[in-house]
Amino acid sequence: MKGHVALEHVYFGYNPDKVILKDISLYAKPGQKIAFVGSTGAGKTTITNLLNRFYDIQSGVITIDGVDIRRMKRDELRRNIAMVLQDTHLFTGTVMENIRYGRLDATDQEVIQAAKTASAHSFIMRLPQGYDTMLGGDGANLSQGQRQLLNIARAAISKAPLLILDEATSSVDTRTEKHIEHGMDRLMADRTTFVIAHRLSTVRNANAIMVLEQGRSSSGAAMRTFWNKGEGTMNCIRV
Ligand SMILES: Nc1ncnc2c1ncn2[C@@H]1O[C@H](COP(=O)(O)OP(=O)(O)OP(=O)(O)O)[C@@H](O)[C@H]1O
Ligand SMILES: [Mg+2]
Repeated sequence: MKGHVALEHVYFGYNPDKVILKDISLYAKPGQKIAFVGSTGAGKTTITNLLNRFYDIQSGVITIDGVDIRRMKRDELRRNIAMVLQDTHLFTGTVMENIRYGRLDATDQEVIQAAKTASAHSFIMRLPQGYDTMLGGDGANLSQGQRQLLNIARAAISKAPLLILDEATSSVDTRTEKHIEHGMDRLMADRTTFVIAHRLSTVRNANAIMVLEQGRSSSGAAMRTFWNKGEGTMNCIRV
């Protein structure tokens, strides 16, 4: 996969009688970064669920590299999408095993490289047994920021050309915040990225910003697209 993604006239509701997304269209070229913003409940997470085919759309089409995702095998589709979600689960096992979960054939050296990419290496080296430290279920013995850094490392080790990021809203200290920011920036560098953005810096650096606006409750969310022309100007192409 190269990473062309298109949504064309997508309609979706979890229940067919209640539209959540109404006539959503967007196009991302390989390597572009698309930011989603909008109020709570507007449908941002829903769009990422549709890209993964956790749900099928009611009408319209979603394509990757020109192929309708309904024609792809679900596991093949998901192998091509790396995700950093706020509630990604860590499992009982070592730090090494938890990062390797992002790509099971990765070598130890590749795991360490991914942790460095994610800015996670330095905190891992301070853990009692470094990469061999056992994590409790769901990373119970780690802070929220540390868990987030491991999630980023896990995505960094995958070679998926598409990346979905759900930025953390939780407050971590400013130093960890910087690590997370750098880790995410490196992760996005050469992948098509859909990011649910909470930080102004993410929004500012995106190629396009999708503003989801909740319409009347029965009519679903409409979307405006702003293309980033650089130097602080945004060009609204569709209302
Ligand atoms: N599994 C589900 N079943 C039924 N309705 C759902 C489901 N998940 C979300 N919804 C509804 O779909 C709408 C969009 O939810 P979504 O999670 O996409 O919002 P969001 O933009 O990600 O919000 P937030 O910023 O709070 O994360 C909401 O009205 C929500 O109640
Ligand atoms: Mg959400």
